[in-house]
Amino acid sequence: MAFDTVILGAGAAGMFCAAHAGGRCLVIDHARAPGEKIRISGGGRCNFTNLHAGPDNFISANPHFAKSALARYTQWDFIALVDRHRIAWHEKTLGQLFCDGKSTQIVDMLRAGMARAGAELWLQTRLAGLRHTGPGFALELDRDGARHTVTCRDLVLATGGKSIPKMGATGLAHDIARQFGLAVTETRPALVPFTFPDGRFRPLAGVSLPVRLSNARAAFDEALLFTHRGLSGPAVLQLSSYWRDGETVTVDLTAGQPVRDRLREQRQRAGGRDLRTELARHLPARLADHLAAEWGLSGRLADQSDAALRDLTDRLANWRLTPAGSEGYRTAEVTLGGIDTAGLSSRTMEATAMPGLFVIGEAVDVTGWLGGYNFQWAWSSAHAAGTAI
Ligand code: FDA
Repeated sequence: MAFDTVILGAGAAGMFCAAHAGGRCLVIDHARAPGEKIRISGGGRCNFTNLHAGPDNFISANPHFAKSALARYTQWDFIALVDRHRIAWHEKTLGQLFCDGKSTQIVDMLRAGMARAGAELWLQTRLAGLRHTGPGFALELDRDGARHTVTCRDLVLATGGKSIPKMGATGLAHDIARQFGLAVTETRPALVPFTFPDGRFRPLAGVSLPVRLSNARAAFDEALLFTHRGLSGPAVLQLSSYWRDGETVTVDLTAGQPVRDRLREQRQRAGGRDLRTELARHLPARLADHLAAEWGLSGRLADQSDAALRDLTDRLANWRLTPAGSEGYRTAEVTLGGIDTAGLSSRTMEATAMPGLFVIGEAVDVTGWLGGYNFQWAWSSAHAAGTAI
């Protein structure tokens, strides 16, 4: 069977690319249904883009690479598409756009786009072999218990990253890239909770508060959540993309509030108050108890010297923690790193050393922040390749 284009992976990027590729296009996926990550994303409401999406929200060995695709297919283009399909949406926070209804509306919209473009979709299909045939590619595909040989001029790698293997994530795109001589940068789980296996935060599980979480490379002002296994919440997921094993992170529990001034005022006004009780006015009570025990805080507010209050607020602003690790690909929302952008055209996503081979979406070494940025990269990179094919 001969196709103009074969797209490996019917996820966000693969389906969107198929809607723009034209010609005879086949999309294959080993899953039972397309767009499974879209379905479960955003708590079932899909955070499909971000109003503020721009190159600064992406991590890559080449920070300039994403600029072209993001500029040529923007969040406004995708919002217009969603509006044309009458999918209602709302901004939750920090420019993050979610469906009012179910995220399957986005999957249905992408399927409709593929159908309109006349693309074929083969699900539960396994790639058994792949060869470069000079001007194109030959694929051996296992489907419905039979082997099919398919040829194509253009091959698009859109099988995503390694996050959540239980959902069918594999490193196939990276393996194929290596097979064809493309470099793959170091990959790591990202947008992932930190673990503290000593169980030190177990009593705090469920406590959440706004913080500034930082390391030497980045800082995020978002919520932190204590869990049975360690730390999660948006601030932690964001910083995990900038964190390396063994590093210490700094939690600013004051989140920019003038806590020291307030403690001094309270010392004047209510000096008889217990220091731990006072701390619980600024922090969730369980966390205040935990810190009071860990830092040996006791006594009345009136007994605290200026130096003691300064010391306490310094500690609150610089709580240093060293995660033992992360939850890994099991729960990571994305894979940091991927197919090296040095070998790809930023305008078309085509491999410069192998015309006809395209790489899009999460498989590429472009990783977005939490908040709809990764889907925007899927749409933008898919559009760049689809319109170039
Ligand atoms: P994607 O993973 O979507 O698709 C890859 C496809 O390839 C899948 O259909 C898979 O089955 C298929 N495939 C893989 N290996 C294969 C093989 N060997 N053979 C055949 N097929 C194969 N982002 C965001 O912007 N907003 C959000 O709300 C969320 N929420 C979210 C929640 C959770 C739980 C996760 C895990 C991730 C998110 N993300 C997100 C990230 C987002 O889902 C992700 O970045 C995009 O889906 C990437 O799109 P791709 O099309 O590149 O890969």
